[in-house]
Formats: sequence, C-alpha cells, structure tokens
Amino acid sequence: MQPLLAVENLAKTFRSGGRRVTALDDVSLTLGRGETLGLVGPSGSGKSTLARVLLRLVAPESGRIEMEGEDWLALRGKALRERRARVQMVFQDPLAAFNPRATIASALADPLRIHGTAGRAERPRRVGELLERVGLSPDLAPRAIHEVSGGQRQRVAIARALATNPSLIVLDEAVSALDVSVRGRILELLAAIQKTDGVSYIFVSHDVAVVRVIAHRVAIMDAGRIVEMGETEGIIREPGSATARALVAAVPRLHR
Ligand SMILES: Nc1ncnc2c1ncn2[C@@H]1O[C@H](COP(=O)(O)OP(=O)(O)O)[C@@H](O)[C@H]1O
Ligand SMILES: [Mg+2]
Repeated sequence: MQPLLAVENLAKTFRSGGRRVTALDDVSLTLGRGETLGLVGPSGSGKSTLARVLLRLVAPESGRIEMEGEDWLALRGKALRERRARVQMVFQDPLAAFNPRATIASALADPLRIHGTAGRAERPRRVGELLERVGLSPDLAPRAIHEVSGGQRQRVAIARALATNPSLIVLDEAVSALDVSVRGRILELLAAIQKTDGVSYIFVSHDVAVVRVIAHRVAIMDAGRIVEMGETEGIIREPGSATARALVAAVPRLHR
C-alpha cells in the first residue's frame, strides 16, 4: 500500500553567527495511514526542523517529500493553499500559537473560514462539534484562550488541528508541558481520534516514556540524522544505538 508520507534524503543547514549547523542530514522515513511515528532525540537533534519542513514552514536544501502521492515540496500557490489543510501542527505552548485574548470560538472558526471548510452560518455548530470531539463542553466557546487550563488549551489546539480534516498531524512536544495525569488523558484522546478517523501522527518528544504510550514506531534522531528506526517496543527493549540507549536509560522505570 502507498504510504501517506514518504520523506527521502532531506538536508537542512542553518548559518548562525558565521557557524554552520547541520539540522537535517540525509533524513528518510515513511508513514502509513493511521500510523503514529514517534520522533525522539536529544535537544538540538533536528526534530523541530523536520516538523517545520513537513509543514513547509522551512525549506530543505535537498531531498524529496511525497504526501498522498504528490510531490509536496513542488506545490505552489492555490494547490499549496488547498493541500496545506491536510497537514496540521500542534505545538508545546498553545498560548504562543494562539492570540491568548481570542475566544475559543474564533480560534476554531478561523481555520474553517480560511480553508472554506464551513460557511459562516454553519460555523458555530461546527465549533461546538469540534469541542465535543476533544472532550470539551461547547459552553467553553465564548471563553478566552488564556482563561482555560493548560490541558483545555491543548485540547483546543487539537480541535483546531482537526478543523480541516487533516490526514497528518505533527505534534511537537505537545504534551511536554502538562502534568502527568493531564498528559495521560490527552494521549488517550489522540489515540481515540486516530481510531475513529484514521489520522496519522508524527509525535515529537524528547521523552521515550511518553512516546511509548502512543507511537507504533519510533525514529531516533541525533545531530540531524535518524540513527535508528523501528517498532517502539523493540527499540526500548533492545536499543541499537548509543543515542537510543541514553534516551531509554533516562527513563528508569523502563528498565526491566
Ligand atoms: N532558525 C534557526 N537558525 C539557526 N539555527 C537553527 C534554527 N533552527 C534550528 N537551528 C539549529 O538546528 C539544530 C536543530 O534544532 P531543532 O530542530 O530545533 O532541534 P530539536 O527540536 O531536536 O531540539 C540546533 O542546533 C538548532 O540550534
Ligand atoms: Mg524542538
């Protein structure tokens, strides 16, 4: 079966203060429909750069991305605007991603309007449905983003990502700032959403314990490279790279 996403030989170098930093070095991976790939690695290993390249927020120097059978990096203009709705992102800090004074209703209505997913008259009902899908009461719609809890905000961010019916959601450290119990419930929500609508996730985290809960496979990144990739449980049981061993060792309760 054709994968949802096929990434081949991506490279990206940043220049900062006269120094060259290799953020992505020959990165290749595939992702199936309804699959979750965990992207794990130490700080600075290139995880967010890869996420941003997939979202077309950063252009790679070389490499290829095929998304739903199309040359993703070649899309321009109207075709790009239309297809952009297919790939959404959830960040660590929803307050930075939203205008904190905006209401939850407007944060969710914006993508419906921008991507033409729902007409004006239909939008309040769609906003209510989106809130219910992420386990929030539609009564929260008129509230400002900054008034609700961190967990509720992250649910709003997930609802906003779902507004355009994406086939892929990239979550970059999306649960890292949450309390353990809130985090657990968000991970359950993500798994339930995937079960109903078959969305694929790229789940970026520095924490193997979190990735273990949600990812079918993991890719271990270090210094811009994928140093190891495979079934999550297999890599936790028998990490083959020094990077993976260090990440697994950082979570004491994973030891058997
Ligand atoms: N806009 C940028 N300008 C210069 N260097 C950058 C930029 N974005 C990322 N980098 C560098 O690229 C490397 C990878 O960063 P990043 O992708 O954010 O890693 P991670 O998300 O795994 O922590 C780091 O060395 C980082 O400092
Ligand atoms: Mg990052």
